[in-house]
This record gives sequence, structure tokens and C-alpha cells, in this order.
Amino acid sequence: MSKKALFQHITSRLFSSSKSQFNVKSRLNPVKNIYQSSKFLILEENDKKSYKYPLVWLRDNCQCVHCFHQGSSSRTINWEKFSVNQELTAIERCEESKKVTLTWADGHKSIFDDNWLLSRNFSPENQKTYLSTHYRPDKNPVWGKNDFQKILKKFDYSEVISTDRGLFEWLETLSRRGIAILQNTPLTRDECRKLANRVGFIRKTHYGEEFEVIAKEGTSNVAYLSSALQLHTDLPYYDYKPGVNLLHCLVQSQSEGGFNQITDGFFVAQKMKEDFPAYFKVLSETLVNWSDIGQEDGNKFHSIYRAPVIMLDHEGKFARINHSVPQRDSFFTVNVDDVELWYQAMKKFVDILHDETVVFKTQPGEILTFDNIRLIHGRTEYKDNTNNTRHIIGSYLDWDEIYSRLRVLRSSLQC
Ligand SMILES: [Fe+2]
Ligand SMILES: [Zn+2]
Repeated sequence: MSKKALFQHITSRLFSSSKSQFNVKSRLNPVKNIYQSSKFLILEENDKKSYKYPLVWLRDNCQCVHCFHQGSSSRTINWEKFSVNQELTAIERCEESKKVTLTWADGHKSIFDDNWLLSRNFSPENQKTYLSTHYRPDKNPVWGKNDFQKILKKFDYSEVISTDRGLFEWLETLSRRGIAILQNTPLTRDECRKLANRVGFIRKTHYGEEFEVIAKEGTSNVAYLSSALQLHTDLPYYDYKPGVNLLHCLVQSQSEGGFNQITDGFFVAQKMKEDFPAYFKVLSETLVNWSDIGQEDGNKFHSIYRAPVIMLDHEGKFARINHSVPQRDSFFTVNVDDVELWYQAMKKFVDILHDETVVFKTQPGEILTFDNIRLIHGRTEYKDNTNNTRHIIGSYLDWDEIYSRLRVLRSSLQC
């Protein structure tokens, strides 16, 4: 008897002898039928839905103690000896335990829970849901100036600090919309740190862990001047650019200035793509040298990172925006004949950017939190006086930590 015939014999015996046990009896038991077809295990959830699982993937993901370490949720199967040509000799499913047992040609057995298999099904709908929730919340909607009042949400600081639901709501909003404001924060210095620790930990840069935005002489960064701060993203000269800015307002300027300016860079990129595709191509393909030279607390630094203004991911989606007039290096290592076109494209980008910028003024007790990968921010000029010195404390968080916290919270809150 050939292997295929043997397999068919065994499976048909298994199924014919206990056919009724593959009928759906409840929502918790959605598996109707299970069989092999070519190099796949087919799992029928009902008459309309069936899913294909590659045999090699099933063997690779065996959950037994030899192949998987439950305590660390880690695969431990020995890949040096792993074969990509896997064959089954039997498929059994136990109705009571809701488990599927696969017996491989070498005698090894793999046992899978129905729900484990179903939640990992390869259908496009399931993968879309996984990617837009479990992996990372979709960054939408992108928003322009006219949408800002609709998308801006404010959260109570103590709710975020003391409840998981509050923390989740803030991070989820920040992730999808790129901006959120926390209110009623104590006017004490270490609130950004407390907030960062609530999520994960502060992201350190060459400016330290917390930075004070307060006008000071002899500064190493233009942010520490009281003059206008042109629209920019922070630290574009880092390959691993800080993900989120936390700006805690302790004292706001009573002068005419000191306004926050902010724009959704992905919205600007979208407009460029639709209305000026040739410029969009230039800005998404030309590598610009971003740099920062200076010293902080006696430590000299010289950072450089080459990246386009509009960075795209492997699927062509917007991945990151880089824009900073002060931090754009005069070394421009591109073909000399391409330079002028890049400037024309950049000028258009900045024109749209300014058209779509919103202006507001955070108040003492507010922490402005925004996505530094996506949003572009600035500040208008202000004047301090002896009774009023504008004082902001800032720090950064990384998206890896935020996404991790969101997944943990989504699981514990079951949302
Ligand atoms: Fe900034
Ligand atoms: Zn195993």
C-alpha cells in the first residue's frame, strides 16, 4: 500500500468510524471536519468556512514539550534536524477535549487545540484582523486641519496612571490618531517619567532621559531657544528614532506666542501622493542626510542617518516622516543633477504641511503626547518675563514598548 493510500485508509477509517463527532455542537466547538489534501491539513469550521494549514508549518509549530517550551512561549524544536518534507500517517480529533492529534511519518505526535488552530488560520480576513489589532492598531484616520477637533481626545492623567482601562484607551488612541492630550497632571517634574514607566520605560537619547524646554543661553539645540521652532520631527538623525513625544506643560507662556503647531505627516504624504505623484516619488526615494552635532553634559555627539522625507514600508504604506530644517545636513550625497528637483518637491511638501497645521496652546497640567514617527510639530515664538518663564518637561517612549503594553492590556482586559 502506498503512503498516500495508507493515509487515506487510516483517515477514512478514523472519520467513518466516528463521523458524528465532527459535527458542530456549540460555538466553543466549531470544527466540523478535518482531513488532509495534498500538502495541507484542511479544517472545516462549517459549511462555508474551511482553512488550509501547510503540513510543514504544523510540524514546525508542534506544541509538545520537545518542540515547544510553554513557560517562555518559545519554539524549541531542533531546526538542524528539521525536514521541510513532512507527511502525516494519521489525523484524529477528540470531540471532548477539542483537540486534534497529528501523527507524523517518523512517529512523532503533535496535539493542537481547535481554538489554537482556528485563531491562526491563514485566511486573508483573519490575517487582516490580526495585523490591525493584535499586531499594531491601524494608523487611521489620517487627518487634516479640518478634522482635528473631531480626532483630538483628552484623557485624565490619574485614570491613565491608576487604571488599565485608562492606560489602554490613551495608548490605543495615540496609536491610531497619532495624538492625545492628558489632563489634570500634577505640576511636578517627574510626571513624564511616571507615565513612561506605566507603559514600559523612558527612551534615552543623547539629550538624556528627560529634557527641559526652557529658554537657556549657550544651548546645543534650537528647541531651547524662545524663538519660533519650525515644523519638524524630533531626532530624524536616529535610525531608531524615538517613537512618541511626551511634553508636560508646567508653565505656559502668557505672551502672544508659545503655541504648539502640529500636522499629520501621513496626511501630507497622502496629499502629495494623490496630487503631486512625481514629487511624492522624489521625496520617498531620495536619501537625505539628517544630522546632529553638539554636546550635552560634556558628552560630544555627532549623529547621522540617511533616509527619505517620506519613508515607505515593504507594502508601500507610510512608515515614517523625517523633516527638520536645522537637522538636515549640508552633505547631500545624491546625484548632483537630482538636487534641484528634490528642493522643488520639498517646497511643495512644506507648503501643504503648513496649510494643514493646527495651532493650540497646551495648558499647565496637560501632557501633549504625539507620534514622532508620523506627526510633524513646531512652536511659535514667545517671550518670557520675570513672572512668567515657559517651562515644558519632555521625554520619549518607543513604539515597541507601547505596542507590547497594548497587547498585554488587550489580553487582560479582553478587548
Ligand atoms: Fe521637537
Ligand atoms: Zn513535538
